[in-house]
Amino acid sequence: MTTPQSLAAVVGHPVAHSLSPKLHGHWLRRHRIDGHYIPLDIAPQHFETAIRALPKLGFKGINVTIPYKETILPLADRISDRAALIGAANTISFREDRGIYADNTDGYGFIENLRQSGHAWMPRQGPALVVGAGGASRAVIASLIQAGVPEIRLTNRTRSRAETLKDRFGARLKVIDWHQMEDAIAECSTIVNTTSLGMEGGPELTLTFRKAAADVLVTDIVYTPLDTPFLRAAASAGLNTVDGLGMLLHQAAPGFEHWFGTTPAVDDDLRAAVLQG
Ligand code: ATR
Repeated sequence: MTTPQSLAAVVGHPVAHSLSPKLHGHWLRRHRIDGHYIPLDIAPQHFETAIRALPKLGFKGINVTIPYKETILPLADRISDRAALIGAANTISFREDRGIYADNTDGYGFIENLRQSGHAWMPRQGPALVVGAGGASRAVIASLIQAGVPEIRLTNRTRSRAETLKDRFGARLKVIDWHQMEDAIAECSTIVNTTSLGMEGGPELTLTFRKAAADVLVTDIVYTPLDTPFLRAAASAGLNTVDGLGMLLHQAAPGFEHWFGTTPAVDDDLRAAVLQG
């Protein structure tokens, strides 16, 4: 008797842009696992039916991406504490006995990327400046608080959206005006862009970093391009920077481990495989 192949997927709409099939494909080959990880473009009207069918078709789990990170939650039988706090999930496991389990590994990926950057990042050293208050920002804020950052200064173009996050994250979150960003830099040890500003072909996030302390760590969740104008400005001010690709690589690891039973390596080989055209 042969063991059934393990199957997993990324579900989105659209999904063609997703790098996850390349990433998991690399790990499957490297660890010689008899399994497949495929992109599934599922239209919203078929989403629930499709999700409920996937375990019956042999899928061990899925990643969910735009626009399903929030809409997956009502379908879950169990939701991890961090997914509940963030209000979104990206890693779903189908368990024979316990149904659909929804987790969010984006914040984990964000923190692992900083920890493995080689820059001796010390989250407790001082406040963090977080730019942006969307879905990605919620994952970043939750993980920064868990990592021990003493205070988060949050700024968003639409201030009211940042204000709504205060109830969720409590007293450590302080909202500041968009135009106060440059001043906040002087007091912060970690500076993060969670907006889409800086993506290829779009508007940029322009900061000078003139007031930053020398040991500040600056990171961006945008990874197309890897050297965003925001990171380039920080680097030219002599600051340590970490690009956003590592977050994508690290957030994928817990899912792979659940579905395929092997802890995958996040290393230069994986980075090169994902960056290959
Ligand atoms: P995601 O889930 O990827 O975080 P999102 O929820 O749509 O996506 O959030 C996008 C973030 O980028 C928001 O903080 C958004 O600011 P607004 O809340 O004011 O829309 C920010 N953003 C997008 N385009 C922007 C722009 N041109 N200038 C400033 N902020 C921008």
